[in-house]
Amino acid sequence: MFPLRRNRRLRSNEAIRSLVRENFISANDFLVPLFVVEGKGVKEEIASMPNYYRFSLDLLKEEIKTLWSLGLKSVLLFVKVDDKLKDNFGTEALNPNGLMQRAIKTVKDTCPGMLVMTDVALDPFSSYGHDGIIENGKVINDATVDVLANMSISHAEAGADFVAPSDMMDGRILGIREALDQSNFIDTGIMSYSAKYASAFYGPFRDALDSAPVDLVDIPKDKKTYQMDFANRDEAIRETEMDIQEGADIVMVKPGLCYLDIVRDIKNNFNVPVAVYQVSGEYAMLKAAAEKGWLDHDAVMMEQVTSIKRAGADIIASYFAKDVVMLLNKS
Ligand code: PBG
Repeated sequence: MFPLRRNRRLRSNEAIRSLVRENFISANDFLVPLFVVEGKGVKEEIASMPNYYRFSLDLLKEEIKTLWSLGLKSVLLFVKVDDKLKDNFGTEALNPNGLMQRAIKTVKDTCPGMLVMTDVALDPFSSYGHDGIIENGKVINDATVDVLANMSISHAEAGADFVAPSDMMDGRILGIREALDQSNFIDTGIMSYSAKYASAFYGPFRDALDSAPVDLVDIPKDKKTYQMDFANRDEAIRETEMDIQEGADIVMVKPGLCYLDIVRDIKNNFNVPVAVYQVSGEYAMLKAAAEKGWLDHDAVMMEQVTSIKRAGADIIASYFAKDVVMLLNKS
């Protein structure tokens, strides 16, 4: 067809490029992960996540106001729990006055319009650093689902809008949905980490929460018996299909960049909103390369989040959310 079709005509200047551009990024795309700790006046930088912090509740308030003023309207809460409060059953996760429950209330008191999603999994509360209860050297499924269901009720009671189970136990979406409904939390949503891979990109997050699996004989050293094998693609469809059948309102693919084929598969196969989690290791990689002067931080960041959206993400959970929106506001 050349030279009738010269594709470069549509690229010849910014005006025509912006006219034919297919994907745009705005504050509306983002879910902001936040790390919360006990204490007062605490804003500590996470060593492996430059310019990302753990906040105590008083400073969480300030951060929430900042996010809201930037147009960021949804947060995903994680808590760092004192080692003394951890046990095999994640008992502290159910404490109605626990850090997560107080964090939810703090966000809602500060900014009632802010959508609050909460991480539901045992690992920050587990003395073994696993997402479930350990019995005879194994992460056991069904007893863990019971705890996750109770944890979800507890978060809903504290005011969470959505619970986000990140544990990858079988049947947990159904267990959580039934538990929420029986407790009359019919409007509390579920964002399921449905295709969550056993990834080495979670390292900095485990530093942030001090939640890595412990190194003990008889305890699994990794999460490969519940998180998915990164070599698999069909399995992501199976997992997602089941989570939707069990009642997930939003499904998620995690991590982001290495898994954009999965994002597109899921987008093409199902008609529920798809979230993508651009995880801690992805954030750390870019920060490190930019610090060395090897990559242009802002340009690569925009390319990454736009690519995640192009792949099919309706929602992007990202540590870059604030950076992106501040950059957009400048231009
Ligand atoms: C815990 C959880 C993890 C992440 C979110 N929820 C870590 C893990 O599964 O070990 C990782 C997020 C990130 O790396 O940014 N269930």
